[in-house]
Amino acid sequence: MSSPTQIIQIWDPFVRVFHWTVAILFLLNYWVLEEGDPPHKWAGYIILGLLSLRIIWGFIGPERARFTNFFPTPARVKHHIHQLRCQQVDPCEGHNPLGGAMVIALMLMLLFTGASGWLQTFREYRGEEWLEDLHEFAANFTLMLVIIHISAVFIMTKLTAIPLLKTMITGKRNVPTETTLVRKH
Ligand code: HEM
Ligand code: HEM
Repeated sequence: MSSPTQIIQIWDPFVRVFHWTVAILFLLNYWVLEEGDPPHKWAGYIILGLLSLRIIWGFIGPERARFTNFFPTPARVKHHIHQLRCQQVDPCEGHNPLGGAMVIALMLMLLFTGASGWLQTFREYRGEEWLEDLHEFAANFTLMLVIIHISAVFIMTKLTAIPLLKTMITGKRNVPTETTLVRKH
């Protein structure tokens, strides 16, 4: 007989809107919008604006959206690896500590990419080749992180049976009522 479950909220609407808007705009800026044209700049500004709000949200938002909830301390990473080895991952958790490290790296690289693009609009830096190279490097590095990020989401979903992608879409997750720790079947 399967154990009773309940639906709990993992991601609030702001985190979800932030994620999918930033993901789409990043990919558009990388592959579709003409580099340096106004739509490219505006997409970049929206990413920077949303990131600023997300950083504030990381301090004042709901529990799972807070940086303190997923900051990867060595003790948390060790505990998480132990949980993975025993196939016992808490289905109520938001970002696991390794996911948290990736989330922070993605946010920092998006900030760096956006800022290095924005700097080029200042007269003092216009046409500076080193800055253009830095912007290109930042965008490429972020893309590399994104590829690892997406792969990790699918690998972790397979390893833990927790539907991460669905949770980032609906915000909700089905978890057992009785215990917070489940064994993967
Ligand atoms: C996080 C968002 C952004 C991403 C992913 C992104 C990505 C890129 C990429 C891939 C290129 C082509 C680089 C090359 O192959 O030479 C580029 C060029 C450019 N971007 Fe961005 N960009 C972003 C934000 C911005 C912002 C906010 C601005 C300005 C307000 C900007 C201004 C430019 C300009 C002027 C170029 C052409 C010069 C260059 O090669 O650096 N970008 N961007
Ligand atoms: C299109 C394919 C993508 C999928 C399927 C995907 C999926 C996910 C999932 C499932 C999470 C939550 C992970 C967890 O539960 O710990 C997440 C978080 C995150 N992803 Fe993605 N992602 C994608 C693309 C991107 C892109 C392109 C970016 C940025 C350039 C990005 C940046 C982030 C960030 C910053 C978070 C943390 C969200 C927050 O805490 O506010 N993702 N992603």
